[in-house]
Amino acid sequence: MQEAENAITAHGVRKNYPGAAGDAGLNGFDLRVPAGSVCGLLGPNGAGKTTAVRILATLLEMDEGRASVAGFDVRTQGRRVRERIGLVGQYAAVDEILTGRQNLVMFGRLNHLPVPVARRRADELLERFSLTEAAGRPAGGYSGGMRRRLDLAASLIVSPPVLFVDEPTTGLDPAARQEVWTAVRELVGAGTTVLLTTQYLEEADRLADRVCMLRAGKVVAEGTPDELKSALGGDWIEIVLAGPADAEAARPIAARIASGELRLDGPAHRIGVPVTERTRALVKVATALNEAGIEPEDITLRRPTLDEVFLHLTGDGAGETREHRNGNPEEALT
Ligand SMILES: Nc1ncnc2c1ncn2[C@@H]1O[C@H](COP(=O)(O)OP(=O)(O)O)[C@@H](O)[C@H]1O
Ligand SMILES: [Mg+2]
Repeated sequence: MQEAENAITAHGVRKNYPGAAGDAGLNGFDLRVPAGSVCGLLGPNGAGKTTAVRILATLLEMDEGRASVAGFDVRTQGRRVRERIGLVGQYAAVDEILTGRQNLVMFGRLNHLPVPVARRRADELLERFSLTEAAGRPAGGYSGGMRRRLDLAASLIVSPPVLFVDEPTTGLDPAARQEVWTAVRELVGAGTTVLLTTQYLEEADRLADRVCMLRAGKVVAEGTPDELKSALGGDWIEIVLAGPADAEAARPIAARIASGELRLDGPAHRIGVPVTERTRALVKVATALNEAGIEPEDITLRRPTLDEVFLHLTGDGAGETREHRNGNPEEALT
């Protein structure tokens, strides 16, 4: 792909923190994010996500390598880069005493917008992130989800073409997480290129066009969520039968269509049938069961989850060890 079509690139970026463990930081980090897309930088706590974002946002200098954002060199054209980016950090940056609207107007003023323009922009963004009703209340009283939305809105005051969002939903409850996801999708609809870091596989799966899996400062896999799942080679059909007799009768039928060994879960009357031709195989299995007079409780086409892909790539569950060492949320990469 042409460099110009990529809103963000990184080649062999290295960053070591003096005194920190050997693999802390970035160890040959590569990235290409096509303009107008969302890239999910996925990795456990300590993988180097924030380091990557800070380097790309010119807040931290790399030791080696090169990187560009919006066509400008991160090292030599920092000011140009800063004019074209927004950054939503891992921790909320809103002023708790000011109201939601005052916060946004202040960000507009900091970005040199004349007062009337800043006010108009603030109102547009409050509307877009469903904060109009709360706009007159101090941000200190906002819920976690509302704060992150206000944060996102603040970073968009001047509509940057490239937006970095570092762990937007860490520590939020499921409802608030959903609100933030909706807000991020809005951004993408507006044509912004987004680099989103997350330790939640589900978040990357839902929001990102492409996912980069980061481990110990290096990208270990990259692709669309679908490509990453297919790379594991494991689509399968899951059949749940009504009872042991049906399960017994269905087994030879499933075996005829399977592209590999069946996975049997006897107590649950469940048969996993590895397949290569997804839809055709589903039709074949359903037809054959129907002809044999077997009515399954459930029959679904399954694909490995990103969790399974990540575990496969990191082998020994290293993600889990890291997570626990850092005392992170239980639903993160395990
Ligand atoms: N300022 C720093 N000094 C020393 N070590 C650091 C510093 N910042 C980050 N690290 C280490 O670098 C690694 C990557 O950190 P970070 O980029 O924050 O990871 P992530 O955002 O994926 O959790 C971690 O092991 C962290 O402890
Ligand atoms: Mg981080």
